[in-house]
Formats: sequence, C-alpha cells, structure tokens
Amino acid sequence: MKRDKMEYKLKKALDHQRFEHTLGVEATARAMARMFGEDEEKAALAGLLHDCAKCLPLSQMVKAAKHEDIDPVMKESKALMHAVAGRCLARDVYGVEDEAVLRAIRWHTTGHADMTGLEKIIYLADMIEPNRKPFPGLDMLRELCMKDLDEAMHAALLMSLEHVKEQGKTLHPDTLAALTYYEPQLEC
Ligand SMILES: [Fe+2]
Ligand SMILES: [Fe+2]
Repeated sequence: MKRDKMEYKLKKALDHQRFEHTLGVEATARAMARMFGEDEEKAALAGLLHDCAKCLPLSQMVKAAKHEDIDPVMKESKALMHAVAGRCLARDVYGVEDEAVLRAIRWHTTGHADMTGLEKIIYLADMIEPNRKPFPGLDMLRELCMKDLDEAMHAALLMSLEHVKEQGKTLHPDTLAALTYYEPQLEC
C-alpha cells in the first residue's frame, strides 16, 4: 500500500490528536534513522503505523491479535494491547511484510531486552516527537536521543517506570527485562 493511502486510512481510524502524533513519530523516526545509520524508509513506515490500532476498543484489539502470543495481563490493557494489535493490522490491513518494521511496532510500548536499532528508534521517537505533551525529563531525553540510543533507552525506560508507578500499575515483565538490559554497566 502506498504511503498516501496509509495516511488516508489512518486519518479515518485515529482521532485528530493521535493522527498528528503519528505524523510526528514518522518524521522523528526518519530523522533518527538518518542520524544513526538505520534504514530511513523502514523507520518512517514503522513510525507512521505504530499506533494504527490505538483507537480501537480493547475487544477488537484482542480479536485482531488472536494468533499472537499474548499474556493475560496484556489482554486487559489497551495500553499494552494496541502495540500487538498494531503489528497485526500493519500486516493484515496495511500490507506491511517487513518483519523488522512489524517488530518495531510490536515492541514500541513495552520494549524488551536487546532491541534492534529500529525498535529503539520507534520506542524513543514515540516519546520525543514534537507534539508530545511535555513531561519531566523530556528535554534531557531529546538530547540523549541525538547522542546514544542505549543511554536514551535507559532514561526512557526509567521514565516509563515512574509513569507506571504513578498510575499504580505494575511494570510489564518485558519492560523490566529491558530496564535491566539497558542499565549502565559499572566499570571496575
Ligand atoms: Fe503506542
Ligand atoms: Fe505513539
């Protein structure tokens, strides 16, 4: 499917704010990919589609992802499910076949240990795109995203941890694994 058609479909599927966010992530992901030597087109495509399932009811997210490996905690959470459903819709509705792009969409909410460059870029672009409502540490995170993807991942994961704690929820095990993985190693 051509990008213009994807944009047209997304505009209908998402609310205005989410649609603007999507375009912001597309542009930010493309710029970061250029900076870090990753594939710009893949990054832009994953950025454009990363939230394609975000505005669906939870029941439809679960239905879209019925063949995926999902745990019971995920099934109860729109915040977690939209990433898995997004992967499925990107493939089944938007015609994306590239597994690297699909994986970047799949992991953009929880993260996981040892992420690919593309996965890190989408996770981070989602947090720093220009339309993001300011949150504590955003400027610092934007600076880190221009210097070092692993350091930026660690900072971003800590911010997610804070956010999850504030909401009184528990951190998903995949995010915990990511946090441990990106913890800076002390040099002896
Ligand atoms: Fe998302
Ligand atoms: Fe997003």
